Amino acid sequence: MTLVRIAVLVSGGGTNLQALLDALQHSKTARVTQVISSRAAAGALDRARQARLPTAVLQDPALGDADLVVLAGYLKLVPAAVVARFPCRMINIHPALLPAFGGPGMYGRRVHEAVLASGARVSGATVHYVDEQYDRGPIIAQAKVRVVADDTPATLATRVLTAEHRLLVRVVLELVRRGLPGEPIRLEDVHDD
Ligand code: GRF
Repeated sequence: MTLVRIAVLVSGGGTNLQALLDALQHSKTARVTQVISSRAAAGALDRARQARLPTAVLQDPALGDADLVVLAGYLKLVPAAVVARFPCRMINIHPALLPAFGGPGMYGRRVHEAVLASGARVSGATVHYVDEQYDRGPIIAQAKVRVVADDTPATLATRVLTAEHRLLVRVVLELVRRGLPGEPIRLEDVHDD
């Protein structure tokens, strides 16, 4: 089986990137081969350098020889021409149960504030295929996280982020195991609390 080369697009602290790096540390079938950030100050770049990975700071991702592209906290819209080059091979992780609480401007703390304001009793994380809109492509898998009475955006974010790490690793490993299928896959949802 040839090695699956994974490009990770980031904008923030990089804990989802870190979860992938840790999970693939001894993998013989998949490896993160490049990290591209939309922000020079992203902590994710420090994590990439620590892992001795090629990094770049770009406004539009030049993805060269990636087999799979993972948006992990990436805040920009991927140009449609780039999305079109990765059918069923570009995924995003979002800190809510899409299609709710997604779309332009719904990222980070704002997502959890909106979830709490809505009175929802369950939140969670979603991994989906990327299309040319924010957070809209076919869902691959979701992890549900219970909202508790005294949750603040920060406490909910922390629990959801842990679920994100597990969900992202699970989906990437399953896509690699299946040889990056050309058709969308849908994995069963999990409860992560
Ligand atoms: C995560 O909550 C991710 O779902 C969202 O931005 C945050 C990035 O976190 N898109 P990190 O940079 O992976 O730590």
